[in-house]
Amino acid sequence: MAPAPVVVIYPGSFDPMTNGHLDMIERGARLCDRLVIAVLHNDVKQPLFTVAERMEMLREVVAHMDKVEVDCFAGLLVAYAAQRDARLILRGIRAIADYEYESQMALMNRRLDKGIETVFLMASEENSFVSSRLVKEVARLGGDISSFVPAPVARRLSAHFPKPL
Ligand code: PNS
Repeated sequence: MAPAPVVVIYPGSFDPMTNGHLDMIERGARLCDRLVIAVLHNDVKQPLFTVAERMEMLREVVAHMDKVEVDCFAGLLVAYAAQRDARLILRGIRAIADYEYESQMALMNRRLDKGIETVFLMASEENSFVSSRLVKEVARLGGDISSFVPAPVARRLSAHFPKPL
């Protein structure tokens, strides 16, 4: 019998996706048979982009990657992972500041479902300071964000925050 395909869930808010996320997607996809990017439906946070817009940007950017799929989820991540027959969750770590939040989530998820492991990849140096939050702030204040996000995201950010004439 052929071994079951290795499915990895890469969850997040992706509001919007950055080059750091793209780096994780490219490197994560090399480690599995299928990588599912899972955009969280979150009623608490006030996002800049709707879930549909975030998924559309992600789909545009990963269109050429056969193994990669874009989906969304609400509720518990472990429940979604089980529903997708995935035993692995992928997360990126940029700096030590990420460690506390990420370790709490990984331990909570393992307590909720001991069959699910979180695997971490270190962000590459050039993206280690890039976050969706800072990219939005720079875009809002009129700065150049083109080196931090893929082109489809840069276009939508420019539409959101037009430069003064
Ligand atoms: O990009 P983010 O905002 O850091 O991603 C956070 C995310 C989506 C991975 C996290 O909020 C999440 O998994 N939410 C789903 C709810 C859940 O399962 N919570 C309990 C386990 S920590």
